[in-house]
Amino acid sequence: MEFKNILVDLEEPLAVVTINRPKKLNALNTATIKELHLALKALEKNIQIRVIIITGSEEKAFVAGADISEFSNFSVKQGGQLAAQGQELLFSFIENLDKPVIAAINGFALGGGLELAMACHFRVASHNARMGLPEVSLGVIPGYGGTQRLPQLIGRGRAMELIMTAGMIDVERAIEFGLVNHVTASEELLEFCKNIAKKIAKNSPVAISQAIKAINAGFKNDVNGYDVEIKAFGECFGTDDFKEGTTAFLEKRKASFPGE
Ligand code: COA
Repeated sequence: MEFKNILVDLEEPLAVVTINRPKKLNALNTATIKELHLALKALEKNIQIRVIIITGSEEKAFVAGADISEFSNFSVKQGGQLAAQGQELLFSFIENLDKPVIAAINGFALGGGLELAMACHFRVASHNARMGLPEVSLGVIPGYGGTQRLPQLIGRGRAMELIMTAGMIDVERAIEFGLVNHVTASEELLEFCKNIAKKIAKNSPVAISQAIKAINAGFKNDVNGYDVEIKAFGECFGTDDFKEGTTAFLEKRKASFPGE
């Protein structure tokens, strides 16, 4: 697949997806959102790939937001469509992907950039990263899930303040808030994420996808997370991964999961 705005590197069992518009600080225009959707959809189907890392090109920015030049003259209807399409194609799509997606935040993660990182399953940042949702400084609000995921991750009061002030936090604050799991030097960021990804890739992909589904269910209003967990737990018993995992344990050897 040929892309203009992103790079996809396959390093089985990992894939690194890099948003590659450094001159615009990797701002998310609609073309980039569509390309990310197509790339992630293909990676989800690729059985050789077990973990996906998303990062931004060069050291300055992960993603400096949605591309402001694209929507500055939008109508009410177009604004609503922009948010709905973006959430469906990218942000909710990532959150519900059945493979783990790690955000490697290598610089500014602002607006849609922080929303993208928050849609990922967890986040690692480099020391120079700065994060915030500055939309109210532009007369708009976060529209790619930021008003929902930021309070889920850092608490309602902190999210209110960060969104209302349109401020930015550094990595010390982000760690304290639980917004990112780890902080590394810039030059070690990708390697650090790859090492976590390799640990994840040793485990059952089927069980991991069921865990993602069950964890996400706890944050949805229309489903009971405990019920989803019970069903997902039961389904694991019908998989080859479960047979392999339990047999390997009893035979005192490392499991080699077929992913089925
Ligand atoms: N949308 C469109 N273009 C953007 C952008 C965005 N969200 N963020 C940065 N860019 C572009 C700039 O317009 C500039 O393009 P130009 O060279 O053609 O003029 C280029 O990226 C470099 O950005 P610049 O502002 O010159 O860099 P800086 O170091 O002075 O400032 C930031 C860095 C991140 C503080 C600043 O770019 C910024 O505030 N960006 C917008 C953040 C934001 O509000 N995001 C939420 C959007 S809803």
